[in-house]
Amino acid sequence: MFSTKLSESLYYVGVNDRHSDLFERHIKLPYGVTYNSYLMVDDKVVLFDTVEASFTDKSIEKIKNTIGDRAVDYLVIHHLEPDHSSGINQILKVYPNLQIICTAKAADMLHGFYGIEANIKTVVEGEEMNVGNHTLRFIFAPMVHWPEVMMTYDVTDKTLFSADAFGCFGTLDGAVEDSKLNVERYMPEMERYYVNIVGKYGVPVQAVLKKVTDIQIDTICSLHGPVWRQHKEEVMSIYDRYSRYQGDKGVVIVYGSMYSNTEVMAEAIADGANSITKNVVLHDVSKSDVSDIITDIFRYKGLVIGSPTYNGTVFPKVKEVMDKIEVRGLKNRVFGSFGSYTWAGQAVKLINDFGQKMKYDALGSIEVKHAMKHADYDAFFNLGVRVATSSLE
Ligand code: FEO
Repeated sequence: MFSTKLSESLYYVGVNDRHSDLFERHIKLPYGVTYNSYLMVDDKVVLFDTVEASFTDKSIEKIKNTIGDRAVDYLVIHHLEPDHSSGINQILKVYPNLQIICTAKAADMLHGFYGIEANIKTVVEGEEMNVGNHTLRFIFAPMVHWPEVMMTYDVTDKTLFSADAFGCFGTLDGAVEDSKLNVERYMPEMERYYVNIVGKYGVPVQAVLKKVTDIQIDTICSLHGPVWRQHKEEVMSIYDRYSRYQGDKGVVIVYGSMYSNTEVMAEAIADGANSITKNVVLHDVSKSDVSDIITDIFRYKGLVIGSPTYNGTVFPKVKEVMDKIEVRGLKNRVFGSFGSYTWAGQAVKLINDFGQKMKYDALGSIEVKHAMKHADYDAFFNLGVRVATSSLE
């Protein structure tokens, strides 16, 4: 396997994972994922991150085919999550004298996860290191997505090695740079990646975006997905918008329904919302993938949740969605709730409690015993109108 040349001195030595069905063993990967690693060949040879253990042989082959008998002098570690670090001991077997450059928190994890303690240099925020023609500056990025994370800014070529930030799902099919790929495939997968992996950490993401605002960035080398040059502003704006929890105009209606009684209500709400905006999405929690549901909830400002009362509480998969919203601290939503019950209602009250806890702007709540009647239709339709209208503001 061969590396991909990105500039006179920078090579891509990452890998495609077309095998895994799930990321972190729970998030679907319909288009696969990459584990990115980059090699800078200067007076010193610098490897930026490694790849997942089962793919490390491929990455090593790319490194050897690029530098021949030269050794890797430095391994800069931006992030210790095992999708990027589980291959480190394999790399150390091939290049035993390399020095590891990382944060103090990463050094602690290196010891804890892999028993590695020797030949580690910890760096501080803003520290610079010269490797020949290139000067590397280290920028700490705690909680994007773990506490030990840092980025590296190549001052010479104005390249930002951004760790997980600006990453996305999807393999690199025949090229690495965005200008050589059809990026339409990657943008929705970037949103799904952001929301599901980094979505909890909006405040730290904003802090890092502020740090890099004033530096010129020509190239972004993330740990997942394409190298961004042509589309770097678009990519940064996705991260900016989502980390501010700013929803677009539109409504997501998320519901559970065993026998379609609650589903009929969801349809009536959608009719009302659609009379105001085209951006209306219904998700049946028993059908839609939860990573898609959460992504749409981040995407649109209007949120309506519906559930039958089930065992005296909220339908389980609706509860799962509510938990994921709460864990991510999603803010700034206009909100409605609805549901059905057979002998004692409780689900809608619990959904309303959730909306209150999240400080959402509550615009209406409807609970119906047994099935929705024809006379009830207008109330549901009007709830959809209210939420959609408020989402435009
Ligand atoms: Fe790609 Fe947070 O690891």
